[in-house]
Amino acid sequence: MSRSEPREPLRFLVFSASLRAASFNTVLARLAAAHIESRGGRVDLAAMQDFDSPSYDADVQAERGFPRQADEFRGRLEQADAFVISSPEYNGSIPGVLKNAIDWVSRYQPQPFNERHGLLLSASPSMVGGNRGLWALRVPLEHLGARIYPDMFSLAQAHHALDGDGRIADSSLRDRFETNIVNFMDQVEASTNYPCIKRAWVEYLGEHPDPATDRVQLPRLRSR
Ligand SMILES: Cc1cc2nc3c(=O)[nH]c(=O)nc-3n(C[C@H](O)[C@H](O)[C@H](O)COP(=O)(O)O)c2cc1C
Repeated sequence: MSRSEPREPLRFLVFSASLRAASFNTVLARLAAAHIESRGGRVDLAAMQDFDSPSYDADVQAERGFPRQADEFRGRLEQADAFVISSPEYNGSIPGVLKNAIDWVSRYQPQPFNERHGLLLSASPSMVGGNRGLWALRVPLEHLGARIYPDMFSLAQAHHALDGDGRIADSSLRDRFETNIVNFMDQVEASTNYPCIKRAWVEYLGEHPDPATDRVQLPRLRSR
């Protein structure tokens, strides 16, 4: 691409990891999607139902291959430069439905989380907004080579924090949420369009490729 050509908008896969119809996390995911679009990003807004796969079973994978929901998750990740997940915290950790979907996708080669940027959000009626669950969610994603943005946003007391229009009622909190998203977009922009910065990332400490650990792969260079 020459310097004078306009850049393609960055593409973001955004989804909530809740299956619940009245989910606070789905509201937060929609707010994130709207803000990304308002700042020039292109959004693919997905639902957890799209990726909700049967429980992972290596025998099923060997005999029947991947379920269509895992294909869908992989395909939509691959179409995106980055992803945003708004996840509930279940018992201080990751909802099983999300971990299961990640486990399925981790078996593809190439493995689509590798080197993809991610932003983690959560919402909960609790006082800490589900933030412990996001720390747990970082572990498998970073293990898979995803570049998880350091700042995470957790909406505490979500049942009070959202107004009747589904917006974050408190203006300073809303500003913090939107700033977090824009900073993440800047990071994705820098890494995608300024690859000299990308080289500054420290490679994650995966195992060497081996049939016994075949989820691990050599780093690949993405061209745009
Ligand atoms: C099995 C289960 C475990 C939960 N554990 C936690 C928890 O550890 N921390 C927390 O803040 N909320 C916890 N909650 C409450 C959820 O935060 C709350 O149901 C929230 O609304 C779920 O997100 P959603 O509205 O996006 O579906 C739990 C809920 C369920 C069903």
